[in-house]
Amino acid sequence: MFIVKSENPFQSTSECMLIGLYDKTEKFSGGLAALDEMFAGDLTELVKSGDISAKYKSVSVIHSLGRTGIKRLVFIGLGKEKDRTLNDVKIALGAACKKIDGMRLKQFSVAIDTFTNAEISEADAALIFSEAYILSTYKFAGYKQRSNEPDVKVESIHVFTEADQQEVVSALEIGQAYGEGTNSTRTLVNLPGNMLKAVDLAEYARSLGEKHELEVEILSKEEIEKLGMGALLAVNQGSTEPPFMITLKYQGKSEWTDVIGLVGKGITFDTGGYSLKPKDGIVGMKTDMGGAAAVLGAMEIIGKLRPEQNVVAVIPTTDNMVNGNAFKPDDVITSMSGKTIEVLNTDAEGRLVLADAITYAKHNGANFLVDIATLTGGVIVALGLDKTGALTNNEELFEKVLMASYEADEFIWRLPYTEKDKERVRSSKIADLNNSPGREGHAIMGGAFVGEFVENTPWVHLDIAGTATIKSAHELGPDGATGVMARTLALLVENFDEGEKK
Ligand code: BES
Ligand code: ZN
Ligand code: ZN
Repeated sequence: MFIVKSENPFQSTSECMLIGLYDKTEKFSGGLAALDEMFAGDLTELVKSGDISAKYKSVSVIHSLGRTGIKRLVFIGLGKEKDRTLNDVKIALGAACKKIDGMRLKQFSVAIDTFTNAEISEADAALIFSEAYILSTYKFAGYKQRSNEPDVKVESIHVFTEADQQEVVSALEIGQAYGEGTNSTRTLVNLPGNMLKAVDLAEYARSLGEKHELEVEILSKEEIEKLGMGALLAVNQGSTEPPFMITLKYQGKSEWTDVIGLVGKGITFDTGGYSLKPKDGIVGMKTDMGGAAAVLGAMEIIGKLRPEQNVVAVIPTTDNMVNGNAFKPDDVITSMSGKTIEVLNTDAEGRLVLADAITYAKHNGANFLVDIATLTGGVIVALGLDKTGALTNNEELFEKVLMASYEADEFIWRLPYTEKDKERVRSSKIADLNNSPGREGHAIMGGAFVGEFVENTPWVHLDIAGTATIKSAHELGPDGATGVMARTLALLVENFDEGEKK
């Protein structure tokens, strides 16, 4: 899709060229000055008249009227050069790519060097360009009889740069992997519950593993029973669909040590069970496998980029349904760890399936754990719809997750996790734990419950109930699933040893 070219971009021929425009009060400089000359200074005039704007995120389309071999110039305003970070420019690129996507072209070009500044190299610009293009033009196909998919699709993008070709080629590949992995997460989350059952999620994981040389293990219901995963089985009890415990392993080191465990909640539909959700709360619960999808998206990125790290991904999957067999409030169940749990609320099912998954990740050698889940409505009450809530038992690991989230531009906010919180999840009269200690601070309670199974392993809990989906379209994607945390998790793995190297 991306073809790197080292000739002068403005001497080339193309249907369309994307150009970054920083707000410089002086005249056009460098390559852009040469372009302005081809227009006999008219571009400068157009900037003066406001027809071309350097305002951040503003997109201006100019027809060249035959003055160059490029039919249309698309200028994306980047604002003041010194203020612009990589993530700012990525967002602006998304806005521009959306505009170009609407032009129904088979090919377009980008003058990648026009996006560089003191902080952003040509390779950086190439990476954020390919990622932004892939993210911003994502669409979920849907099931309409008359598809709204355009008949013309971009087949090739010519990337012009004076920088080292190989560096730019590999930067484009990295951005592409991050974009595509995130889009896979989005698609999984957007799929309705009848189209993506536990068995489908398991099959998806199997083919992902085969494609990217990851070791795959999918435990059947019988194997789950043999291992005593009573918490996952309890949630599955009301379903006509079998549960699965999915494990993917990526070994990037010679020894299976320092293993990073990624554990994702894979509830393909959450009715709430006998603690049934109200009719408005049940709509949208197809997204309750957002944690699983983020882990699978991250594993796709990891499988493509092959960092020198070891990763085990564990995904417990089932739907949470009601029938005559379903588990009930007041039931006491026994988890794989041996810990017994008094079920006070069958709608607090995520923490139950995560409990057995955490135990299983530890059995598979995980030395660090990150669990990720659409776990509580409470995190939305606490932090809103654009912040992922976090809990941790380890400052150092949390710092690594936070750094990765900054790089991915995915906001995380840490909630407190104290001895009192631990006491509350341990406060059952008849079992070791209870799964729902009440509404107060219940985003913390969800995480604290998972923490009981983590024990002393360094751990970060991420609650993406608010951030897995978005109500309106944005520069880097449409409304619906965001693919949140796929990139943060992949970056966490990729950068895991960074602190030590310095
Ligand atoms: N899947 C829900 C959480 C959720 C809510 C995700 C809104 C996405 C959007 C979870 O299983 C749940 O129902 N949690 C309960 C827990 C409570 C019963 C302790 C909640 O948050 O209300
Ligand atoms: Zn629930
Ligand atoms: Zn749920």
